[in-house]
Amino acid sequence: MKKVTKICCIGAGYVGGPTMSVIASQCPEIKVTVVDINAERINQWNDSNLDNLPVYEPGLSEIVATTRGKNLFFSTEVDKAIDEAEIIFISVNTPTKTYGKGKGQAADLKFIELCARNIARVAKNDKIVVEKSTLPVRTASAIKSILDNTGNGVAFEILSNPEFLAEGTAIEDLLKADRVLIGGDETASGKEAKNTLSAIYEHWLPKERILQTNVWSSELSKLVANAFLAQRVSSINSISALCEKTDANVAEVSRAIGYDSRIGSKFLNSSVGFGGSCFQKDILNLVYIASSFGLQEVADYWEQVIIMNDYQKRRFAENIISTLYNTVSGKKIVFFGWAFKKDTNDTRESAAIYVADALLEERAEIVVYDPKVSEKQIYADLDYLNTRTPEENRRLLKVTKQPIEAIQDAHAIAILTEWDEFKNYDWSEIFKNMLKPAFVFDGRRLLDKESMTELGFNYYKIGES
Ligand code: NAI
Repeated sequence: MKKVTKICCIGAGYVGGPTMSVIASQCPEIKVTVVDINAERINQWNDSNLDNLPVYEPGLSEIVATTRGKNLFFSTEVDKAIDEAEIIFISVNTPTKTYGKGKGQAADLKFIELCARNIARVAKNDKIVVEKSTLPVRTASAIKSILDNTGNGVAFEILSNPEFLAEGTAIEDLLKADRVLIGGDETASGKEAKNTLSAIYEHWLPKERILQTNVWSSELSKLVANAFLAQRVSSINSISALCEKTDANVAEVSRAIGYDSRIGSKFLNSSVGFGGSCFQKDILNLVYIASSFGLQEVADYWEQVIIMNDYQKRRFAENIISTLYNTVSGKKIVFFGWAFKKDTNDTRESAAIYVADALLEERAEIVVYDPKVSEKQIYADLDYLNTRTPEENRRLLKVTKQPIEAIQDAHAIAILTEWDEFKNYDWSEIFKNMLKPAFVFDGRRLLDKESMTELGFNYYKIGES
């Protein structure tokens, strides 16, 4: 089996950064170089102040502190890193296509193809190329075709090694992975490449948790895993709407069904809707793949997961408007949270963006507080929707780092991210400073209904009447 001394990862994002940091910390004899074409991002990874890393994850800065400059390096020198490495991970973004065939559903593979062409141009000796990005089924064969036809006659083995980490718990997920999936060819050289990659993970994970499959199963498994997870959220969210119309409580229903070991208790929390860069994009991709094979019923089935998620976000916004006497125009509504979940600064597809957009359409005046998300990011998220001009977004929505001061004279608070700190706020003080009646719309089921009602709030919690 090949002895690995140098690996590189193309893409220093939410996956590439944490994944490679953990590999570097667990494999001190391997030099790990993470490269990106985004120089600003690389500068942030190299910032001496660890608070400025581009990705916030609990435990990440501690790992970077002990490995960076020793066997972990962040660089914009893509060609040099490719040239040196025996294994190249591709961890670039694979967003939903916004143009052409498959627009709005298929994965945009232009960044992947650029990487493949770059590797083909630079590589002078045999390489193992690892798809870490989430990719449609059969992408490996496209990568292989580019590498074999435009390369310098060197041998490439393509592996699929999808990443299952969840943002917010990335380091924990990487260190204690339920499983690692490695897909590759069944040829002798394919098997050897799988074993070579497996040996890296075996530094810290038991071998029986490292699953080897063929490359297509591996690619498809990642899409299916995300589709199943998102489906659970949409399933319980659909029931939350029913609970609100009856006297059932969604938490009690979740608990009751979760005790059934066939169902299990995880991922059954109702909320304002799932976000994040992956669930929606990967399901849309699955929908696209199914319909392109003529499997319309399969495509429709999975699309419903997204439809339900959009409904949940819309329902939350509409409930705010109708509860506030059918008008939010000129009313100050404070958002607690903007990130798509707690313990991350990632806002991609966050429910907060869509709820804000719906309320701004009704001329609400929103003030946003999030402990980890920057003002620049919040405005970028809103501007991206193109619903109104950037000037109007800045006029109607303000960003603050002072949540308690922000609630002065507010009509309502909407909890959009489940940051722990919100639980510890002095809610009786908050109540005093708000306009009355004071409304709290808890999209994360974070607070206790009884105590909030006792304090005097008109408190709405998703999934309870
Ligand atoms: P990201 O957008 O945070 O990072 C991707 C990085 O790749 C960017 O910094 C970009 O500048 C860089 N890049 C793009 N093209 C490049 C090129 N030709 N050369 C060098 N650098 C290039 O994306 P993220 O979230 O890290 O996701 C990466 C992949 O991992 C996606 O396919 C995603 O679906 C998958 N994934 C993401 C998870 C998540 O929680 N974010 C979890 C599991 C998988």
